[in-house]
Amino acid sequence: MIIAANWKMNPPLADAGALAAAYAAESFDGVTRILFPPAPYLVQMGVRLDGADMQVGGQDCHHNASGAHTGDIAAGMLAECGASTVLLGHSERRTDHGEDDALVAAKAVAALTTGLDVMICVGETLDQREAGAAEAVVTAQLDGSVPAGIEASRLMLAYEPVWAIGTGKVASVEDIAAMHAAIQQWLAGRDLASVPILYGGSVKPANADTIFGVPDVGGALVGGASLKAEDFSGICSAGARTAAARS
Ligand code: 13P
Repeated sequence: MIIAANWKMNPPLADAGALAAAYAAESFDGVTRILFPPAPYLVQMGVRLDGADMQVGGQDCHHNASGAHTGDIAAGMLAECGASTVLLGHSERRTDHGEDDALVAAKAVAALTTGLDVMICVGETLDQREAGAAEAVVTAQLDGSVPAGIEASRLMLAYEPVWAIGTGKVASVEDIAAMHAAIQQWLAGRDLASVPILYGGSVKPANADTIFGVPDVGGALVGGASLKAEDFSGICSAGARTAAARS
């Protein structure tokens, strides 16, 4: 089980240190934890988590290795700052910054070249789901965002229905199962069957066991609940229970 904390543009640095210290004090059998802090905090959070059972990663990177790109961050810089992984194609990047699948794929190539692993996000909007297009949308995102020839061991996917992010709404177990099965089938067709598929969107301690009960769910990408040490811990405990039950 992979359980990742996506802090997005939160919290203040003073709170970040305490939160990372709380994360560092725990570990969970069968659970790999990854923290995606805001980029300016990366080194400091890496220090806090040094020797702890949790990796750090970047929330985004540029598709070029260096150059005149004010405000952007190269994948190699993330790696130099201690990142093992970079999150790419989050729906907030796709919406706020107009990132399309081709750009996400180019960023993934840049990240892989520097030695980072990639976690690529996909997910449909409510309109797309209501139109019956959810699986077609997600499959098209996978086709466009996952670079051809990527090694399975370097890739993680996160299925995050856009309408479930930060809303308190969670996809039904049936909808999660159907989408994760569709993604699994897509992966299997490309020799990527071992790639973990995380679910994201309003994951909380109270719903984590139910979500992790879906067979193809390989973990969670957690936003809001990762900002409370106790809630993130509760989700990781559910992950450990699931890992034990599956082994
Ligand atoms: P929430 O857990 O706040 O819904 O956010 C999910 C998410 O976008 C994680 O990347």
